Amino acid sequence: MGTSKRGLRWAEPAGVLGRDIEMLVLGIDTSCDETAAAVLSDGRTILSSIVASQAIHSQFGGVVPEYASRAHMQLIVPVVTQALEGAGIEHGQIDAIAVTNRPGLVGCLLVGVSFAKALAYSLDIPIVGVDHMEGHVFASRLAQPDLRLPAVCLIASGGHTELVRVDAWGEYETLGRTRDDAAGEAFDKVGKMLGMTYPAGPEVERGAQGGDPTAFAFPRAMMRRGNLDFSFSGLKTAVRYKLADMGAVPRDDELKDFLASFQAAVVDALVIKTMWAAAESGVPTVVIGGGVAANGALRERLTEEAARLGVGVVLPPRELCTDNGAVIAAVGDALLTRGQRDGLALSVSASRETAARPL
Ligand code: KG4
Ligand code: ZN
Repeated sequence: MGTSKRGLRWAEPAGVLGRDIEMLVLGIDTSCDETAAAVLSDGRTILSSIVASQAIHSQFGGVVPEYASRAHMQLIVPVVTQALEGAGIEHGQIDAIAVTNRPGLVGCLLVGVSFAKALAYSLDIPIVGVDHMEGHVFASRLAQPDLRLPAVCLIASGGHTELVRVDAWGEYETLGRTRDDAAGEAFDKVGKMLGMTYPAGPEVERGAQGGDPTAFAFPRAMMRRGNLDFSFSGLKTAVRYKLADMGAVPRDDELKDFLASFQAAVVDALVIKTMWAAAESGVPTVVIGGGVAANGALRERLTEEAARLGVGVVLPPRELCTDNGAVIAAVGDALLTRGQRDGLALSVSASRETAARPL
């Protein structure tokens, strides 16, 4: 791929944006249960973004990896085709492909990466592997391209909850992370206890509307200043015991209060620690990403606290917080601009470490 005629475009003299012609990057994410593809122009303009959520998992209360891989196989071609159609371009106009290759379910990642490799090979264009979590950080860059760094980023998704100091795009320091469940996982598990289908986060948020967040006293764990780690398993257990005490799943107003109280416990921990992280590292701005960052109560509370403490806040649109191909394309564009690219030996990894090359 290093000799690709199109690949040379990144080496051309810098224009206003650091290059002189429009660059179209196709971003693909198949790391979990969403098949996503997007076309991004010049690292900042989203021409199209298609996300197909796999309904099959709802009946199982969580993602079934084998079903997810199979659904990706069925969805990847139509999703990419729709993304290209939405952008009004042909395959031949794509300049590079960015694909999530870590972290995630290996069988799922393999579908996206194998597809991306085949397409890159047939079009003779560069391919670059992207860290899904870095994609969540880049949602704020897409939302606000002139964002001044450093910033503290709260990444709260179904599999991860982390506080990261972003010194430059591509330069991160982890300040704290969950010791057990991720914030999204807590929403999903508590929703499941209440009979909701997976993923339960949006339904919990809807159900909590109009509820009293102080009605039930749910715990906030590890709330010692200086500790930027999270823990949500105690909250989950407290919810389980409370439900057992109540004898039946709450209904109507009581259900609203219950959900609002649970949501407030998660939001409190996330917001308070994000603001501590900003204060302790003397960083003037906080940003968010990951599926839980779509939660209205979190967004409202973070906005209030940031205003109170004089800290800037960037809340990317909800569709950029949840999994999508646009943020993957944005990371890919930044990597390619720095001259980085992967060859057809690109592999996948379940964890965040750079994916191992095949032997
Ligand atoms: O980042 P994401 O789309 O996928 C992963 O990388 O995991 O995050 C999905 C998680 C799920 O746990 C889902 O329930 C949660 O984000 N989520 C929400 C909301 N929307 C999605 N949690 C709370 N409120 C929401 N509105
Ligand atoms: Zn995600």
